[in-house]
Amino acid sequence: MKLFDVYPLYDVSPVSAKGIEVVDEKGDTYLDFYGGHAVISIGHSHPHYVNRIKSQLDKIGFYSNSIQNPLQLELVEKLEKLSNCKDYNLFLCNSGAEANENALKLASFHTGRSKVIAFGNSFHGRTSAAVATTDNPAINAPINKQQQVTFLPLNDFEAFEKAIQTNDYCAVILEAIQGVGGLDEPTTEFFQHIAETCKANGIVLIADEVQSGFGRSGKFFAFQHHDIQPDIISIAKGMGNGFPVGGILIHESIKASYGLLGTTFGGNHLACAATLAVLEVLEDENLIKNSRKLGEYFMEKATELPHVKKIKGRGLMLGLEFDFEVADLRKRLIHKQHLFAGGSKNKKLLRILPALNITKSHIDLFFDALKQELV
Ligand SMILES: Cc1ncc(COP(=O)(O)O)c(C=O)c1O
Repeated sequence: MKLFDVYPLYDVSPVSAKGIEVVDEKGDTYLDFYGGHAVISIGHSHPHYVNRIKSQLDKIGFYSNSIQNPLQLELVEKLEKLSNCKDYNLFLCNSGAEANENALKLASFHTGRSKVIAFGNSFHGRTSAAVATTDNPAINAPINKQQQVTFLPLNDFEAFEKAIQTNDYCAVILEAIQGVGGLDEPTTEFFQHIAETCKANGIVLIADEVQSGFGRSGKFFAFQHHDIQPDIISIAKGMGNGFPVGGILIHESIKASYGLLGTTFGGNHLACAATLAVLEVLEDENLIKNSRKLGEYFMEKATELPHVKKIKGRGLMLGLEFDFEVADLRKRLIHKQHLFAGGSKNKKLLRILPALNITKSHIDLFFDALKQELV
């Protein structure tokens, strides 16, 4: 048997990691400014995270959602406290795509409609409805193309007003900061207009915070930069710091009933322990503030760089748009500088997604390495 060959791989085999450092099988150390695609939020192998998962495993690792699991209730309480999202209920699942799948399904149940509005350059996952709302025909199979999705340009009020006239949409889904698409954002005016229009028309507004959530943008959720209240918020990635966990926060106006949603693995004891550990570290180490401050420091330093056309993003969800395509630069950063950074659909954009507990000296090291490759 071989592996199904769907990933172009860099020739690096990490065997251990600590904080922002990843060590490969040859003993070489890499600085991780990619976080395994925005997943590592509190740093690799954070001691509190490791201990909480290990000690949970010693007690009970898994049982299905047919029993009481007090860890889920502890998680709800902690999540409400840190996110300040008070009028929501939590449904737990296992990944970002699954979170959006449940969000879209719930919107359809709630409204009795099936059409969705999504935006250009969006990425919401690779499963049924989630991939249909992802602006990439190449990853949509014929079976996915049965979904009815209208893609609109981001921040185009006129196109949105025109589309909404038909009033047969169940949901509008958008990222408060686009990740895979390349760090574009809705303006506050556009986001607020969408939120008001959705409310007036009984359409469910889904904020996809899979990548931008859990403090990455410098606030707990990126939509909180715009003073709006989505009906559903999807979460994953940084939530588990590498443990596969996802979920949706559902506004109380959307009612639950037995069997409406469900999952075998979602919300299991280990997933709850991992997420609680992340929330505890975010709180105890003041990491959301660190994300905001270090993001500002990064932006200041980035202004000194040659070839940079735009500095994008917020907090530690950042992008540097160059006047050339960055694929080769990414390779050189990995192999010559031992530094991981991300790419995006925008081929000229280098994506920066480090753990939220990095320091100024890590950022200085990043810029020293980058400058060496830019001369
Ligand atoms: C904004 C956003 N939504 C959803 C997903 C899908 O998450 P997953 O890969 O966990 O299914 C991603 C993954 O990159 C994402 O960036």
